[in-house]
Amino acid sequence: MKKHLLALISSKLTETVHRYGVDPAGVFELQTPPDRTKGDFALNTAMRLAKPAKKRPLELAEEIAGILRAETAWFARVEVAPPGFVNLFVNTPVISRILDETARRDDLGLRREDKPQTVVVDYSSVNIAKQMHVGHLRSTIIGDVLSRVLEARGETVIRQNHLGDWGLPIAMVLWKACPVLRDLEARGVAIESELTLARLEGLYREASAACKEDPAAASACHEILVKLQNGDAGLVADWHTVTRVSMAEVYRVYDELRVKLAPEHERGESFYRDRLAATVEAVRGRGKLVESQGAQCVFLEHFKAKDGSPLPVIIQKSDGGFNYETFDLAAIRYRVEELGADRVIYVTDARQALHFAQVFDVAAVCGWTSRADGSAVKFEHVPFGSVLGEDNKPLKTRTGENVKLSDLLAEAVERAYAVVCEKNADLAEETKRRVAKAVGIGAIKYADLSQNRNNDYVFSFDRMLALQGNTAPYLQYAHARICSIFRKGGIAESEDLGSPDLVEPAERALGVKLLEFADVVTSVESELRPHTLCTYLYDLATAFSAFYDQCPVLIAADAGQRRARLALCRITRRTLALGLDLLGIEAPQEM
Ligand code: ARG
Repeated sequence: MKKHLLALISSKLTETVHRYGVDPAGVFELQTPPDRTKGDFALNTAMRLAKPAKKRPLELAEEIAGILRAETAWFARVEVAPPGFVNLFVNTPVISRILDETARRDDLGLRREDKPQTVVVDYSSVNIAKQMHVGHLRSTIIGDVLSRVLEARGETVIRQNHLGDWGLPIAMVLWKACPVLRDLEARGVAIESELTLARLEGLYREASAACKEDPAAASACHEILVKLQNGDAGLVADWHTVTRVSMAEVYRVYDELRVKLAPEHERGESFYRDRLAATVEAVRGRGKLVESQGAQCVFLEHFKAKDGSPLPVIIQKSDGGFNYETFDLAAIRYRVEELGADRVIYVTDARQALHFAQVFDVAAVCGWTSRADGSAVKFEHVPFGSVLGEDNKPLKTRTGENVKLSDLLAEAVERAYAVVCEKNADLAEETKRRVAKAVGIGAIKYADLSQNRNNDYVFSFDRMLALQGNTAPYLQYAHARICSIFRKGGIAESEDLGSPDLVEPAERALGVKLLEFADVVTSVESELRPHTLCTYLYDLATAFSAFYDQCPVLIAADAGQRRARLALCRITRRTLALGLDLLGIEAPQEM
């Protein structure tokens, strides 16, 4: 909707803006007033123009309102409000027409019309030999939603799972796991039957404890690391086995979460192993490398120690080894030069903010953040807060351990099953199980995604599974309710229903809300904040509920009204389903 209005507004107002010597790019922006009696949209151009034009905002607002009032085909009313807003009341037939056009498109108007960008999304990025815990949930699902949104907008999305699979931790696991593998081979036992991810994690813990106490253990692990990094065939084969065992379990969780990550998206640290030395050399070639206490460093102007001296970013340790920074620098070059990225998005917790700021800066001083034609590649770190328990401390089990994601998902599905049985005891058992899975998993994901990602949030099964409020079950229920209207009326969704007619205030309000969908998705693409989509879907479901209370559908006054209302139900259902799909959440037909 905004897109249509902005096209009109800029065609009518560009001349005026030019006359005041202002560049029209960026001065036209429509806001949605929280109080809809103040208008469908508010234009704040007068405020932006006031300073350069040396005029009072109210005076400019009057001038703008005068021009837009002439557009009687579009606007029923145009009003000026202090300090300089121009409030627009759109003619209802215009809303009906755009809604009808939108409904004719499979993408509900989401796809951008100009040239798509290539966007790399680095998310999930789990570490080998560690079970996924609730901390990995956030990167995995936020990254997945961002990828889905970018794809829906028509961007070329390249998912990258930057696995932690090539450092000392993996050497420590191998130190313990290699003998286990030999034993299994000797006994002729299938590896997966005894070497589970839980077992690997246990081996890692044992190794890590041993290394702390016993220097001989530490040096054995270090030796393994060097041999592995030098390509020792036997060790590389065992490393491969350990990685596959570990990832098999991770893929089970992805599957359960409906996260679109597959082996083809794996570009772990190991992928960059033969590019690390060249990366350090390339930094040297740019004249940015400084040796400090035996380590190879880059000193950045922006990052200073407390005493004001510049802080070093180490990219090669004094023992010649490479670190987390080196891997990320190599990855940046790969993503820009080989993947052709226009934009690179990293989804990790907020504690890594400094790491990314420094790595982006090193890459920039080396000239790696722009392409051959000189255009800049955009690098963005998408940070998020922690998941807390009801005690407001990071979520732990009663015994103080990290909560395993697979346990959490299983419990959510179990609890959702109880909710489904209570709500709709008549459903077939198989349907109940299927719906419980959609509701349970959906509830966990939605509870996370609906929070502003920068904040910590408190994990609560009771709250996330509630059928009222801003929850997945509430949205899924609204969707199922619309499906049941069609079922009860014996109407196929493919039926030609004509266009929605927005006569009653509740119909109009729902129509206006529906037309916000594409604007909201566009803003998620630019701001990378999934919770705005959640808030929108919640408001939409609420607007639908108000409409359904006030406007009978199946028992409407006449056939024409019934069809028009069914058409409105149908586009609401499609918007809810598509919105939930962008969030990676299923929308069952019945609940
Ligand atoms: N494996 C890392 C961790 O668990 C996250 C990697 C994020 N991506 C990256 N390119 N550094 O902390």
